Parts: sequence; C-alpha cells; structure tokens
Amino acid sequence: MGSIIGFVSQKGGVGKSTLARGVGREAAANGLSVKIADLDVQQGTSVNWYRRRLEAGVEPIFSVESFKTASQALKLAPQFDYLIIDGPARASAATLEIARAATLLVQPTGSSVDDLEPAVLTFHELVRDGISRNALVFALSRVGTDAEEAEARAYIKQAGYSVLAGSIPERPAYRQASNVGLSITETRYSQLNKRADDLIQALVDRTDGTV
Ligand SMILES: Nc1ncnc2c1ncn2[C@@H]1O[C@H](COP(=O)(O)OP(=O)(O)OP(=O)(O)O)[C@@H](O)[C@H]1O
Ligand SMILES: [Mg+2]
Repeated sequence: MGSIIGFVSQKGGVGKSTLARGVGREAAANGLSVKIADLDVQQGTSVNWYRRRLEAGVEPIFSVESFKTASQALKLAPQFDYLIIDGPARASAATLEIARAATLLVQPTGSSVDDLEPAVLTFHELVRDGISRNALVFALSRVGTDAEEAEARAYIKQAGYSVLAGSIPERPAYRQASNVGLSITETRYSQLNKRADDLIQALVDRTDGTV
C-alpha cells in the first residue's frame, strides 16, 4: 500500500492544485507510480493542466484523473506508490473522508491572519473529529517576504500544528509554468525550482522518505 497525500483547504486558490502537481511530478521523476485524483469535477484544474502537459510532450508522464467522490479515488490507493488527492475548494464532508484515509493531509495557506485563521479552524475541526495532529501539516504558499513567512510559522506553531520547512513564494513564473503544463519544479528559473523542490522534499520526508 502506497502513500496517500491529501491537499485540502478552507480557502480557495491557496495552491492545492499547484502543490499536488509538483509532488506528483517529483514522485514520478523518481520512478514512483503516481495518480493525482482531481476531486473538483467542475473546475478540473489538474486534469486540464495534465492535458496541456501531454500536448506539450513534457516528461515524466504520470496519471491525473477526475473523481466525483473521495471514496472513488481512495479505492485506487493500493495500485499506486503515491495517490495524491487534489481536494476541492472549501472544506466539506469530503475533507474528513480524505483526512481519515491520508498518510499526510496538507493544507496550503497564505501567510495573512485572514488566511491562517480559517485554516487553523479547519484543522481544529478535523482533530475534534478524531484525526491525529501528526497527520496534519501546513504548507506556506504564495508568500511575500521572509518576515511574513516567519510570522505565519509562529502563528501556526502557537495554534499547535506543524508546518513544512520551506515555502513557495508568489511568483508569476510559477503560473507561467502551469500555463504550459509544467510543475513548480519545472519553471525557467533554477532558484524557483529549487525552492519548490525543497518544500516538496520536506513533504515527502514527512510521508515516508522514499523520494
Ligand atoms: N506561488 C505562486 N505564485 C504565483 N501564482 C500562484 C502560486 N501558487 C498558485 N498560484 C496561482 O494561483 C491560482 C490558484 O492556485 P491553485 O489552483 O493551485 O489553488 P487551489 O487551492 O487549487 O485553488 P482551488 O481552491 O480553486 O482549487 C492559480 O492561478 C495558480 O497558478
Ligand atoms: Mg485546485
């Protein structure tokens, strides 16, 4: 049985799909079998991105598929080294279902209190519903400055949760990469790729250390 990594959030647009694709790409590049389950059937962000990737002929290839429900996606876990769940915008009943099955549940968040407050509440609810804090982790996404990142880190620690080492800065180059089916580790800028890769590595280390 492989690892199940879930990406969920209370707020929309925090970088769930962006990070899910980055993790998928890195795991596939390391020879692991990967399925990204896109749970937002209406937007199909990751499925559409993957179509752009195939059209551009980018390697490595892996598998991205739409699912209507979390349970449909979770059934496939035994078939892959990594089942990566790209959750829908907003926390919902599916969030708890994903959390119950996930090896690691990642909540990307921006660094403002506006972003952090509801994000922490979402994890509090999961803990109340019986999810272990050890399975929950924040990923700082779309950050501006180091000072902003440090404050966000302190806020999360104070709330009793862990946060991955590293962060993804807000940069147009990440969007440009996504536009042509590339991941955040495949931009034109090696420094940005490394920054994304460092965070992904921290995530993988938290999961099982196989990549
Ligand atoms: N670090 C970043 N720098 C610049 N743009 C980013 C960054 N991260 C994400 N984006 C852009 O922000 C938008 C939202 O990102 P993404 O789709 O990954 O978020 P999401 O949490 O999956 O959103 P949703 O809740 O709608 O599913 C996208 O246009 C994406 O390209
Ligand atoms: Mg998304």
